[in-house]
Amino acid sequence: MENGQASRTALGAATLRAAHQLIDGDVKLLNDPVILELIDPETRSRICENADTFNSPGTLGMRTHIVLRSRYAEDCLKEAYEKGVRQFIILGAGLDTFAYRQPSWASGLKIVEADHPSSQAEKFDKLIKAGIAIPSNVSFINVDLETDDLERTFRNFINFEEPVFTACLGVLIYLSQSCVNKIFQFLGGFSEGSEFIFTVSQKRNDKYAVITSQKVAEEGEPWISYFEPEALIEQLKNNGFTFAEYLSPEDAYELYFNNHDLRLPPPSKKNILRAVI
Ligand SMILES: C[S@@+](CC[C@H](N)C(=O)[O-])C[C@H]1O[C@@H](n2cnc3c(N)ncnc32)[C@H](O)[C@@H]1O
Repeated sequence: MENGQASRTALGAATLRAAHQLIDGDVKLLNDPVILELIDPETRSRICENADTFNSPGTLGMRTHIVLRSRYAEDCLKEAYEKGVRQFIILGAGLDTFAYRQPSWASGLKIVEADHPSSQAEKFDKLIKAGIAIPSNVSFINVDLETDDLERTFRNFINFEEPVFTACLGVLIYLSQSCVNKIFQFLGGFSEGSEFIFTVSQKRNDKYAVITSQKVAEEGEPWISYFEPEALIEQLKNNGFTFAEYLSPEDAYELYFNNHDLRLPPPSKKNILRAVI
């Protein structure tokens, strides 16, 4: 990320989550009214006035991915909570809104939003402007994942003796391989029962991927890290995870898309993972 600039890609992801609320009909994969308060009125109008563009195959596929990863992470979080996990880190939180629309069960959860300082400053600004109160179970950590020592950064916020659920959605592609390995090592050292939901990408050459990768590079956030599926599972196991699996398109279909009223297309690729210690 360019110094001092809040993440443009976080705004892009937020825009697609907002589009899901605005133009995908009544049946939602993710109910996220708060995101509509965090995007500006111009973005809201742009979505509503350009529904055709937002419904092009490439954008729809990306919207499915972005909405699905949040929904899946939140469902896994609930399951983990039911098994006793009480700490939740959102790594590279961007404009994630879980904390501001949290269900009643989540009040027993300690939620830590961690992000680059410039992205976090912009999020605060948006929360304040929207009049959204920060719930008492939410803390914020400024972190540069590339350069900071993660153990030192998190130790005043997280009890490493207790399990932790971590979500890191749409972030690893922007980080160097050595930083990704540092994150795996850090999270893989958490206590038994901890879970990690995250996304990765494989290199793609289709038109939408090429145009999007050029656009994000021009915005100062190039896609730099890609992963081969089998090697990644091995890398996770080498770093302390006992179990790791992709959410397959077939499982995603059975879980969420087997519903004619849902207007989002099912995913065609596997790029969301769940890893457990
Ligand atoms: C595409 S956004 C995803 C945001 C959010 N997870 C979501 O799903 O909407 C990428 C996020 O990664 C964060 N990020 C990128 N590089 C980072 C770094 N070196 N340290 C901390 N955060 C970083 C950005 O600030 C941004 O919030």
